[in-house]
Amino acid sequence: MADDIKNALRMMPYGFYAVSTIADEDANVMVLNWASQVSYEPRLMAIGLAKNAYSYALVQQGRVFAINIFNKADADLIKPFTKGRAKNPDKMKDVVYAPGPETGCPILEGAAAYLECKVIDILHVGGDHDIVVAEVVNGGVYKPGEAGETLSLPDLGWSYAG
Ligand SMILES: Cc1cc2nc3c(=O)[nH]c(=O)nc-3n(C[C@H](O)[C@H](O)[C@H](O)COP(=O)(O)O)c2cc1C
Repeated sequence: MADDIKNALRMMPYGFYAVSTIADEDANVMVLNWASQVSYEPRLMAIGLAKNAYSYALVQQGRVFAINIFNKADADLIKPFTKGRAKNPDKMKDVVYAPGPETGCPILEGAAAYLECKVIDILHVGGDHDIVVAEVVNGGVYKPGEAGETLSLPDLGWSYAG
């Protein structure tokens, strides 16, 4: 049967990011597309985070995350992080990164830019993902450019919506 809600949801062109977390020196990185700035002052970011992700428990505990933004040309650098940590315990083994100065969250080698965020609230709204609202406390740009050069889901022909 036609599902036009799903079809319409999949027409929204999301970005595609590597979200890093850390708690008690346990760092992790996952891919995520449900991310948006949601306030100018203060600068707030909201992400939709799967309750069953390894990263969810780290965000709950550490109350920090960073958004690593990549250029289209560097799409291959983000793909290893599509794997879940539970099934891939060594996921972080060979990952090259520096700790973010404000949060300690991994800032990945090859990222075009990053945003460090401190969690303000985790909204439990009854879905399979919760909404994590955080203040952006620091950011950096390694490869200055326009948003049009930033990797997004349509560039890969992938979808996480519906
Ligand atoms: C294209 C794509 C987009 C995704 N977007 C999100 C997202 O917005 N939020 C989310 O919680 N998980 C998203 N995921 C799923 C997580 O990346 C996946 O559950 C990952 O294994 C979690 O890693 P972790 O368990 O090591 O934290 C997406 C996956 C893919 C492939």
